[in-house]
Amino acid sequence: MTTPEIRVQGLHKSFGDNHVLRGIDLEIAQGEVVCVIGPSGSGKSTLLRCVNLLEEPTEGQVFVGGTEVTDPDVDIDAVRRRIGMVFQQFNLFPHLSVTENLTLPQRRVLRRDKAAAERVAAENLARVGLAEKAGAYPSALSGGQQQRVAIARALAMGPEVMLFDEPTSALDPELVGDVLAVMRSLAREGMTMMVVTHEMSFAREVADRVVFMDGGVIVEQGRPEQVIGAPRHERTRHFLSRILDPAMAEVEEGVADQGGTG
Ligand SMILES: Nc1ncnc2c1ncn2[C@@H]1O[C@H](COP(=O)(O)OP(=O)(O)OP(=O)(O)O)[C@@H](O)[C@H]1O
Ligand SMILES: [Mg+2]
Repeated sequence: MTTPEIRVQGLHKSFGDNHVLRGIDLEIAQGEVVCVIGPSGSGKSTLLRCVNLLEEPTEGQVFVGGTEVTDPDVDIDAVRRRIGMVFQQFNLFPHLSVTENLTLPQRRVLRRDKAAAERVAAENLARVGLAEKAGAYPSALSGGQQQRVAIARALAMGPEVMLFDEPTSALDPELVGDVLAVMRSLAREGMTMMVVTHEMSFAREVADRVVFMDGGVIVEQGRPEQVIGAPRHERTRHFLSRILDPAMAEVEEGVADQGGTG
């Protein structure tokens, strides 16, 4: 078997006495798209942040492309260059144009000259369908366009792996589709992707595998049609019923609220 692009082994993470990740083992193959789902607070973001060392694991190992990134002697900057990350908040520089937002990290981190960085910026803006916004400022763009710029900025660094943490959850519903379309095309190009998302239809369509987390562990994982369509665990069923039918969740909460008085 070829080396997995991402390998997480026996990963634990605590914040003080809050034991958030409680032994995560996960391998992601080259070109694989893995969607991570689970309730708020289950540790999804913490897991992603441990993969690119935005958080330091308390215990366990993480490998990216065969390099142990949790090795204390590793060149963290070199590792991060191989991993693109896209957050719920786009974090674009408001005082820089779209092109400048894309060229700045290339020039600072990769030491590309201006012309080369601008060429790569233009290629990647085209890739996310925003070639015509090269000279615009972030404030002139919709949230969905800003998020596509953030994706292009990550892609311009030439990552081997892309991590997405709820990339569409800050967007108005009508803007979600364009961002998901960009992610779908990246998946088709063979990018290795780890995506925390509540977009179940995206997960069903694009993911090779869905991982359901709860309480800092992976409760179940498998093909999307299995995990989403026919979950094996009660916790997964409960989570999905709330995600797929929010009205039902409100009714449940109402029942729970009245639980003490009845
Ligand atoms: N930097 C931090 N310092 C202290 N506690 C943290 C930190 N980051 C996360 N936590 C705690 O870790 C737990 C898991 O948080 P995490 O953000 O990973 O959950 P999540 O599954 O991504 O939730 P959500 O769906 O709401 O984004 C929470 O209890 C949170 O308060
Ligand atoms: Mg999160």
